[in-house]
Amino acid sequence: MNNNPIGVYDSGFGGLSVWRELYRALPEESIIYLGDGKNCPYGSLSEEKIRSLAVKSVEELLARGCKMIVVACNTATAAAIKHLRATFPDIPIVGLEPAVKPACQRTRSGVVGVIATERSLKSEKFLATLAKYGQGVNVIKSVGQGFVEAVERNAENSPQTEEIVREVVEPIVSQGADMLVLGCTHYPFLRDVIAKVIGERNVEIIDSGEAVEKRVESLLEEYDLRAEQGHRAEYEFVSFADGDYVQRLRCKAFAE
Ligand code: DGL
Repeated sequence: MNNNPIGVYDSGFGGLSVWRELYRALPEESIIYLGDGKNCPYGSLSEEKIRSLAVKSVEELLARGCKMIVVACNTATAAAIKHLRATFPDIPIVGLEPAVKPACQRTRSGVVGVIATERSLKSEKFLATLAKYGQGVNVIKSVGQGFVEAVERNAENSPQTEEIVREVVEPIVSQGADMLVLGCTHYPFLRDVIAKVIGERNVEIIDSGEAVEKRVESLLEEYDLRAEQGHRAEYEFVSFADGDYVQRLRCKAFAE
């Protein structure tokens, strides 16, 4: 038993899509969410830079007493997870990666779309996953250009956002994809507009949120880290950006 918080980290707002899954499924667990904010977007930064930002963020969360870390960012996971596990060997660290495996297993058309950041799509980790599960499947990889920025601006519902989403999603769907993998934690916030662009066409949109929640749950059991029954959870939001950003993180987490 351990009532300390779980630490969740992302470059900005995106990891809140994972935070929401944990909040719903594990109501007795306190969570500290760190949305860097100052260095977002990570998608085109060097691996080295992302690694050092990830170490700084995990140090911050550990200094606040976190018992487990969730790197709720595909880009930071691809660039830094090995390094983080080697640097902090005593703490369970959960990473995220695009749901390529279930998409390639479930596709009937044999065409799968994966949208993610440039850094994620180029990473060794992603290419290895693709080589393992993508055989015989036409996997169309696209960068969600401008998606992260739209979510950071809270502009999910603007006509301009619909345009940038259409530019990326339409070519994937036109090529016959029946699975669309959201390989960045910011993208689930664009789910409605993505669904609008897809329209009546039969395309399943998948992200990694639920799978990560299940993984967190099983590690809490394995390490005997669950909070006590009836524990009153607390939710804290921190950032390397200013107080206004922290306020926006909190609002977005509890929106809907
Ligand atoms: N949310 C992040 C991800 O899952 C990264 C977005 C960014 O900062 O570029 O990849």
